[in-house]
Amino acid sequence: MIMEFDEVYSQERVTRKFTNRKVNEKLLADIIERAQQSPSLLNSQPWKVYLLAGDALANLRKEVMQQIKDKVEPHEDFVKMLSLNWDPYPSQNMAAVGASQPYFFHNKMDLFTESNNTMFNAQDVAFLTIPEASPAWSVYDLGVFSQSIMLLAINEGLAVMPAHSMVSYPELVRKYADIPNGEIIGMAIGLGYKDKAAEVNDPKYVPARLPFKKIYKFIK
Ligand SMILES: Cc1cc2nc3c(=O)[nH]c(=O)nc-3n(C[C@H](O)[C@H](O)[C@H](O)COP(=O)(O)O)c2cc1C
Repeated sequence: MIMEFDEVYSQERVTRKFTNRKVNEKLLADIIERAQQSPSLLNSQPWKVYLLAGDALANLRKEVMQQIKDKVEPHEDFVKMLSLNWDPYPSQNMAAVGASQPYFFHNKMDLFTESNNTMFNAQDVAFLTIPEASPAWSVYDLGVFSQSIMLLAINEGLAVMPAHSMVSYPELVRKYADIPNGEIIGMAIGLGYKDKAAEVNDPKYVPARLPFKKIYKFIK
C-alpha cells in the first residue's frame, strides 16, 4: 500500500492499544532496512535495532509488569539525561499540552497508565540502541532514524507507538533481546495494527500543539 505523503504524515499519531494481530516479519525487516537511508552525522549510523515479538516479547512484558507491580523505580539507560532539571520551556509544555493532559481532563488517567503498563499490547516492538560512548549527535541521529521507521510503517498501514516507558527496565530488554554490553537502549517503538475500538485511542485524547508563532521566527 502506498499513500500520499501528506496522508502518511497526517496519520502520525501514537497508538496506545494495538490489536493481537502480528505484523509480517518480512515487512518489519523491510521497513527497518529502508529506514537505514536516514541521514546521520558523517554517515555514522549509530543505531541498531532489536525487534522483539512472540514469546520473547510476551515474557518481557510479563516481567516488566511484575516490576511495576513490585514498585521498582523505572531506570532507563538515558536516565542521566532524563533526570536533568528540564528547562522551564519544555516543562511548561508537558504540564499544559502534554501527552496525559487530555486523559487527565476527561478523568481517564487510568486509560493512559494502563496502556503504558501493558506495553500497549504491542505484538512487535523495535528496541533501538546506540553505543554507550555516544555524543549528543547520535541521540539526534537515533531520533531521525525513528521518524523514518514510523513514517515508513504508517505508509504500510501500520500504527506506531514510540514510548520510553517500554525501556524503563533496560536489564530485562537486554536479557530478552540479547543486547551486548556497550550499547544503551535509547527508545522503543511498538509497531502493529491499531485497535480502533479501544477508548484509549479515541482522537479526543490527541494532545494539542503550541501556537505556531510560539515556535517560529523568520528573520531576513
Ligand atoms: C521520545 C518519545 C517518548 C515517548 N514516550 C511515551 C511513553 O512512555 N508513554 C506514552 O504514552 N507516550 C509516549 N510518547 C508519545 C507522546 O506522548 C506523543 O507523541 C505526544 O503526546 C503527541 O501525541 P501524538 O503523537 O498522538 O500527536 C513518546 C513520544 C516520544 C517521541
